This record gives sequence, C-alpha cells and structure tokens, in this order.
Amino acid sequence: MGWIEKAVIYQVYPRSFQDANADGIGDLAGIERRLDHIAQLGAAGLWLSPIYPSPGVDMGYDISDFGEVDPLFGDLHAFDRLVRSAHERDLRVLLDLVPCHTSIEHPWFSERPERYVWAGGDAPPNNWVANFGGSAWTRDAARGRWYLHSYYPEMPDLDWRNPDVVAAMQDVVRFWLDRGVDGFRLDAIQGLMKDPEMRDDPPATRPFGLPLPEEYGRLDHVHSANSPDIGDAVAALRAAAGDATLVGEVYLPAERRGPFLEHLDAAFAFELLHAPWDAEALRAAIAANAGGGAAWVLSNHDFPRVPTRVGAENARAAALLLLTLPGPAFVYQGEELGQRDAPGPGDRYDRHGRDGCRHPVQWEPDARTGGFTDGEPWLAPVDAPERNARDQTGDPGSMLELYRDLIALRAELAGDVELLDATDGVVAFRRGAHAIAVNTRTTSARMPVEGTAFLSTHPGDGDRENLAPHEGRIVG
Ligand code: GLC
Ligand code: CA
Repeated sequence: MGWIEKAVIYQVYPRSFQDANADGIGDLAGIERRLDHIAQLGAAGLWLSPIYPSPGVDMGYDISDFGEVDPLFGDLHAFDRLVRSAHERDLRVLLDLVPCHTSIEHPWFSERPERYVWAGGDAPPNNWVANFGGSAWTRDAARGRWYLHSYYPEMPDLDWRNPDVVAAMQDVVRFWLDRGVDGFRLDAIQGLMKDPEMRDDPPATRPFGLPLPEEYGRLDHVHSANSPDIGDAVAALRAAAGDATLVGEVYLPAERRGPFLEHLDAAFAFELLHAPWDAEALRAAIAANAGGGAAWVLSNHDFPRVPTRVGAENARAAALLLLTLPGPAFVYQGEELGQRDAPGPGDRYDRHGRDGCRHPVQWEPDARTGGFTDGEPWLAPVDAPERNARDQTGDPGSMLELYRDLIALRAELAGDVELLDATDGVVAFRRGAHAIAVNTRTTSARMPVEGTAFLSTHPGDGDRENLAPHEGRIVG
C-alpha cells in the first residue's frame, strides 16, 4: 500500500477547478496555480479526472486519444510542469485511466474495429442495457454491425479478450508512468470483462447492494459485466503499473470487490457514499468495508455533494467520519468548502443529469465567477459570496479549517475500526487510543465513550457526557 495507506487524496475535476486563460473552463495551468490549496489542506496527492482529448459527450470519460492532453486543458508540457510542481510540494498525482471504452471518435474505432465488441448477426445479440439507459447495443451505420456500449452510444466498449487491447492499454499505463505520475484511478472496471457467450442478463431478483439507475437496475448484471475471469484483466493492468498506486472504481458491493483487491491498492467503498445519514446505515457501510482495501469517499463528480445529500447541518460530522476511518480517504474538490449542488435539472451538459455537482470551486466571494475564471464560467458558481476559500481561510469556524484540522489530526490515528455500542442515532468506533462518535440526529445524545475531546465539529455545544445535535467528536 505504501504512501496511500493513510493518504487523503483530493479529487480535481479539471473543468471546474481553476481556469487560467479566461475561456471559462478549468485547465492544467489553473490546477498548478492552486496546488498550494491542496497541499495546505494536508492532502498527500490528487486524482485528476480525465484530461485527455475528448469530444466531451461524457465530459472527458469518452477519450479519443489516451496519450495526449485535451487542448482545452493545455498540453503535455503543461502536464509535465504540473506533475513537477505537485512533486515539489510532496503531492502525488493519480490520473484517471478509462480502460473499458473509448470515444467513438477514437481512431481505433474506424481503423482497428477488432478492438471493440461486436454482435455476430445483424441484431443486438442479447438484452444488455447501458448504465445510462437504453439498449447497450447500437448499429454502426457505416459497417451495418452492432457494437456494445456499457455507457453512452458514443462510447464503444473495448474488447478485453483481444490481447491487442490489453497490450495497448498497458502501453497507456507505462506512457503516463514514464511521465512521472504516481498511479491511477481505474474507471468503472467492473465492466472490463463480459460473458464471452454474451448470454442475456437475468432479471434482478435480489437487491444489488448499491443504487443503480432505474432501467439498468432491473437486470442482474452477471453477464454484461464482472465476468468470473475479470481478475486476469485487472492483473494485466497491475503488471504494467508495477508498484504504482491503483485505486479501483469497482461499482460492486463490498463482498464482490475481493477479486479486484487482489491486484489493487484500494477500491472505493461506495456503501458509505450512498448511506443515508442514519446511524444504522453508516455502521453497516463501515462494517461492510472494514475488511481492508477500502478507499473511503463521500462524494465525487457523479453524485450529489455531501451537504445536498445528507443536509448541510450534517456536513461537518460527515467530514469527521470520512477523515477518521482507516485507509485512504478521497475528498472531492469543493467539499472542503461545504459547497452544495446547483439547484435545477443538471442536464445542460450531462444527459445523465450530473451537472449539479460539477459547478466550479468557489475561491473568492465574487458571485459571477467565484474567482474560478476571468471569463464566463462554463457553469456558474452556486453561492460564492456565502462560501469561498478566501473567506474561510483562517476562520476557525469554517469548513475549510475543520478539514485542515481533521487531516492534521488524522495522522495520529492508528489501528483498525472497532465499532462500539452506542445509543440510537449515534455511530461510534474506536481506533487504537482514540474513539470517534457522530450524532446523526437533531437532538443531543449520550456520548458513548469517556475521554478528553481532541476535536469537535461543534465545540462548546455539547458537554463531556452528551453530543450536541449533528456533532462529531474525537476523544482519546
Ligand atoms: C465512471 C465515471 C463517470 C463516467 C463513467 C463512464 O463511473 O466516474 O463519470 O460517466 O465511468 O466512463
Ligand atoms: Ca481554461
């Protein structure tokens, strides 16, 4: 595991982090300019959502060249500079590796069609459904053949049973490692391998364990994803990566992530991200992932932000919970400022309705730009006058200073999680000499353990015996 074992990794969504050239879209030079923010937070590294050339149908997850930087974001020189500047600050850099599909505009799709998954006859060969809805098969008009796409039709799936694909993706891994990156977040890798016989997925008769889009969730994806030999594909990525860090986005419940974890440093514990703010649900999410290999996460560019999802009144305790669990923790940009989702349908750019959590980071109070750009932001700041990094810096009651304190204190926490009995509405666990308690309710609750308070999210509101409403506390 190495450096990542206790690391906080900051997720940068490049399009919305910082614009340096006034075109309203974040870029690599902007990220470089704001590296001190990430370093001063106490993060050990950053994960960059995709920076590669892309037609932008899935905001960069539809890649048309794995070995370049999208001109929107800069170029390879700007990338090298960013990696150097990050390393000078002791920040590691993880890239997003998207191995399951390409953009339909990737030259492979026209020049190397054998690298993709095609139906044998002139019809969809099975009932597979795309994650974002509709059939997972689309007819390519030029060839008159049907190709598979687990996401948007503009994102054809690569055929990982073709050794050429494996070798090409291994080259991609080595290309970026040679440029100095420290590892990768592996996108949606439960989909790397499918049933070679392409059998129908049966209807879902058991709960999946994590939320799924409605139509996709009607089937049990035993054939369209996560084929029994999927470990071979993950092993091939590991072989190319050597001892670089690999964190998997494996969208499967914890008990099915084992084969992936044999080859990865960690995989996101999505149970916690999706848990309602309820003590029982949170305990269950922690217990399900206590076996090791969990990368803890409460938000990312795909789901509503924490204050929007669990209520702003719970956001401080949520930060405390996230940052006191053992193993790596991922913080999505803007969470450290308490940012909320933009109201509205959220489908101006993303057909799947995820714009809401992708609005720019609010650096300064300016309502129009939030200090994110000198131009017109591609998406407007949500509430920069109320929430921004400048005002929060040095304010002891701010979310930003809470994050900094928690990350600093986290270095002292050691040992596995031992869940403790607690009164209704309270999640509590011990880690070595420390105990952590979170009150999920609007009423005060009995503090389940004795000890001196090291940190409270609501200092002065509770007392030694009682947690205040919404309070999180670390004692020792
Ligand atoms: C991952 C990404 C998501 C993207 C999908 C397809 O889940 O986080 O943003 O749409 O993969 O690449
Ligand atoms: Ca820009």
